[in-house]
Amino acid sequence: MAGFLDEIGPLKEAALVELQAAADLGELEQARARVLGTNGKFTALMKQLGALPKEEKPAAGKAINAAKVELEAALTSRRAELELKSALPREPTDFTMPGRRRAIGKLHPLTQVTEDIVRSFRKIGFVVADGPEVEDEYHCFDALNTPADHPARDTQDTFYLQAAAANAPAGGGGLLLRTHTSSVQIRVMEKQPPPVRIIVPGRVYRRDNADATHNPTFHQVEGLYVDRKVTVGDLEGTVQFVFKELMGPETRIRFRPHYFSYTEPSFEIDFSSSLTRKMGKEWLEIAGCGMVHPQVFENVGYDPEVWTGWAFGFGIERIAMIRYGINDIRLFYENDVRFLGQF
Ligand code: DAH
Repeated sequence: MAGFLDEIGPLKEAALVELQAAADLGELEQARARVLGTNGKFTALMKQLGALPKEEKPAAGKAINAAKVELEAALTSRRAELELKSALPREPTDFTMPGRRRAIGKLHPLTQVTEDIVRSFRKIGFVVADGPEVEDEYHCFDALNTPADHPARDTQDTFYLQAAAANAPAGGGGLLLRTHTSSVQIRVMEKQPPPVRIIVPGRVYRRDNADATHNPTFHQVEGLYVDRKVTVGDLEGTVQFVFKELMGPETRIRFRPHYFSYTEPSFEIDFSSSLTRKMGKEWLEIAGCGMVHPQVFENVGYDPEVWTGWAFGFGIERIAMIRYGINDIRLFYENDVRFLGQF
């Protein structure tokens, strides 16, 4: 009995040292097996308990259980220490380092410019209208007084769709990707009686090879105003208001005579500002416009003797390029965040 009880103390002390010495969870598990495992030293001692004389068992059992509880507590606390240690970074934390930030997204520069344009027009009573990008020849050309032999309908600069014949709406001609947003003028006037005050931002398509100033798809804003007694003066005043808002208060506008089949008279709009001078030019061409052709009104069932109006169209990319000093249109479509993050 004395021998048995004497063994418990030193064995326990040695086991405590061994558990404490484990440097990581793997070593701790090995130490646990050596002490408390099936073939462990402490387990072996407990097995000897059965061989003791009956009257010695209670005291011996009590002593050995107390030692076991102590060892298990030591094991649990060392395990907690080592778990914490393994969860902590190996390097000390430098609390003076800058934190990690989630990058905040931004609107694409073309979206920003479009929203600015829309905001200006809303101030003077225009609403945004929309139309299909897959359009029929009638709405894209014929209804806009653009006959079948007009160069704009040439396969050279227009994407016609193969499935067109089968799916084309009755009387609409073949289907194509719209070459301009002017088709939406027709769709809106077909649906509502005058007066009309709309702008139409949207995507258009042309068979252009991509280079610094061309891309097969780009964006336009169309405007249409129809009411009684509308004049070129209304057109010029509106364009001036919007461009001053967009490009700065010292912006000047000039109209040059031009030809579009859906307006008469027709003009090209040039503008001049510090931005154009930065690009080495006094005047830069920016838009096409004119007074809505009477034939267009006939085509949508408006009486051209009663109703008058103007329309214009311009490219959003071009405005954005001038505004931000961008010299290659392709940058807008590459989705390089180093470029997009600057706006
Ligand atoms: N549709 C023309 C283009 O794509 C732009 C345009 C010119 C629109 C004159 C108009 C307009 O509404 O009246 O180049």
